Amino acid sequence: MTFIIAIDGPAAAGKGTLARRIAETYGFHHLDTGLTYRATARALLEAGLPLDDEAVAERVARAVDLAGLDRSVLEQHHIGEAASKIAVMPAVRRALVEAQRSFSARAPGTVLDGRDIGTVVCPDAPVKLYVTASPQVRARRRHDEVLAGGGNADYETILADVKKRDERDMGRADSPLKPAADAHLLDTSEMSIEAAFQAAKTIIDAALNRN
Ligand code: CDP
Repeated sequence: MTFIIAIDGPAAAGKGTLARRIAETYGFHHLDTGLTYRATARALLEAGLPLDDEAVAERVARAVDLAGLDRSVLEQHHIGEAASKIAVMPAVRRALVEAQRSFSARAPGTVLDGRDIGTVVCPDAPVKLYVTASPQVRARRRHDEVLAGGGNADYETILADVKKRDERDMGRADSPLKPAADAHLLDTSEMSIEAAFQAAKTIIDAALNRN
């Protein structure tokens, strides 16, 4: 049987780094589901198609190839913004969730991270983590990342963006961001990546022993 680890949380909470590290440690396949929304948004933008036509966006979502997802070409800010706009459309979500579910069944195990993995995509996952941190800490991390990459950015602008994104992700009617009832909460506001990983590992090892 495939072992599924579901990781959810808001923008810049550190779930991507954590998910990659967990997948590497256990030899599991990893899918960053945010990239599926980003790839759909990018394809629409590139083709000059509207971001507010659900039927068009659904068609594009169905053509997304999970094997070709690459964060480096999808990470631009405007693609993230467009992604969170098309992510409110139920038909787009249905198309991408189908693809994500078939990915989740790969042997011997999978790690999926996103906003609705524990609640909608893989509600039966034996391990669910909800990774969060205060908006200020998340904005600070984003800001540091941009500076480290040689770019320049204003902390207050990033903080406003983080809050706007939270509102959109938590406030949408279809699959809003929220912890599953049986998720383990990991608040990384005052936790290093290493400490968060160790906490996650303890939870995962206990569940693997039960299975
Ligand atoms: O990296 P960042 O936190 O900016 O976002 P992402 O994980 O790349 O996802 C981009 C957008 O896709 C998010 O703002 C969500 O609105 C949406 N998304 C979603 O609705 N459901 C998921 N499972 C993953 C992402």
